[in-house]
Amino acid sequence: MNQDELKKQVAAAAIEYVESGTIIGVGTGSTANYFIDALAKIKGKIDGTVASSVASAERLKSHGIPVLELNQAGQLSVYVDGADEANEFLQLIKGGGGALTREKIVAAASDRFVCICDESKLVKVLGAFPLPLEVIPMAQSYVARELVGLGGQPELRQGFTTDNGNIILDVKGLEILEARKLESELNNLAGVVSVGIFANRPADVLLLGTAKGVETRTAT
Ligand code: 5RP
Repeated sequence: MNQDELKKQVAAAAIEYVESGTIIGVGTGSTANYFIDALAKIKGKIDGTVASSVASAERLKSHGIPVLELNQAGQLSVYVDGADEANEFLQLIKGGGGALTREKIVAAASDRFVCICDESKLVKVLGAFPLPLEVIPMAQSYVARELVGLGGQPELRQGFTTDNGNIILDVKGLEILEARKLESELNNLAGVVSVGIFANRPADVLLLGTAKGVETRTAT
C-alpha cells in the first residue's frame, strides 16, 4: 500500500467515531480530505460540521455537508484531523498545511480528538518535521530572534498567508523532549498566535494506517 492508500484507509476507519445527531470538527490536509470524502457517504447521520480551514469548509460544502461557525455550534463531539508527527503520548506536530490555529481551537472545543495518520508520522521524539508557528506579521523578526536563541532555525513560509491573515515561521533544529513546556513557552512569546505543538491538548485516539491495517492507539 502506498502512503495515499494508507491515508485513505485510516480516514475511513475514523468514521466509526462519528456519533449520530452531533456536530463534528473536521481538520485540514490530505488525510482530512479523505475523511471528508468518507463522511459524505454518511452525511445524513450528522447535524453538521465545523471546519478548521477555509479549504476544508469548501470541500465539505462541495459534498453537501453543512458547515457551521464554531460560535453557533457549541461543544463538538469529536474532532478528526491528521498530523505531521505523533509520539507515543499522542502529542503532535501540526500545521504543515498552515491551519494550526483553527485546528487548535476546534480540537480544544471537542470532547474527543481522533488523529488519523499513516505510519510514517509516528516518531520517538517530535521535531524532525519543522515546527510551524503562526505569527502576527509585525512580530516576524522579533519572534525569529527568540527562536534562534532557543536553538531553532526559523524560516518564513514563502508566499503563504494563513486564513487569519498571518505568516508562518517553520522552525528546524528543535528536539522537542518536553513538548508541553515548549508549547507553553513559545505560546508566551509576544506576537505568536499559536504553536504547532499539540501537547497540552494531545489527541485522545491515534489511528495509524499501516500495511497490516489500522492500528488504534491511546496515550501510554
Ligand atoms: C494542516 C495539518 C495537517 O493535519 C498535517 O499537515 C498533515 O497533513 P497531511 O494529512 O496532508 O499529511 O496540520 O495544518
